[in-house]
Amino acid sequence: MKGIVFREFGELVTARFGEATWDALITESKVPSGGAYTAVGTYPHEEAVALLTALSRKTGVSPDDLLKAFGEHLFGVLSQRFPFAVAGHADIFTFLESLDGVVHVEVRKLYPDAELPSFVTRWQGDVFVLEYRSQRPFASLADGLLRGAMSHWGGRYELARHPLGRDGAREAIFELRRS
Ligand code: HEM
Repeated sequence: MKGIVFREFGELVTARFGEATWDALITESKVPSGGAYTAVGTYPHEEAVALLTALSRKTGVSPDDLLKAFGEHLFGVLSQRFPFAVAGHADIFTFLESLDGVVHVEVRKLYPDAELPSFVTRWQGDVFVLEYRSQRPFASLADGLLRGAMSHWGGRYELARHPLGRDGAREAIFELRRS
């Protein structure tokens, strides 16, 4: 996973819980990088899981809820850093349709070693369906990113999530509709 994601996670943890907590997470989770993340570096996603687990132990908040909250925050960061991704989309649906074939493709051009999930989208009546598949267990991150996108475009939506596969963390179906 790219350092930009780790750095943002570190910033958010520091802002919400303080620098001492972030330092303690690095020590307790024994991440091989020692927490020295650079934006363009690439680090094993297991480090993110270890940090999340340590933060969950400290706060009593589940790793899934932490990941969701982080995803929501991360959407704002990514949309500012990569304005092309959100520009020109009048609504969230055309944006999400462009995620797999345009947004993450451009991300891969910038970071050839990026580890990206895949998305398939379709309309089912008035429900927009997005299937998430990844080698990494980050469906809750996708959930949070979707919530970030929902607030970016405004309006009222209902979001439902159905787990797929072994644990629902690597594959999930999201259903989004206007309410
Ligand atoms: C502004 C739009 C977006 C940009 C520029 C963007 C870019 C990125 C980048 C740079 C990464 C890190 C890749 C790596 O660590 O190697 C990433 C990962 C990821 N993206 Fe996006 N993303 C965007 C929107 C979204 C949205 C809306 C979703 C959810 C539906 C999403 C789902 C994910 C997930 C879950 C990952 C973690 C990797 C995985 O699950 O396998 N992204 N994205």
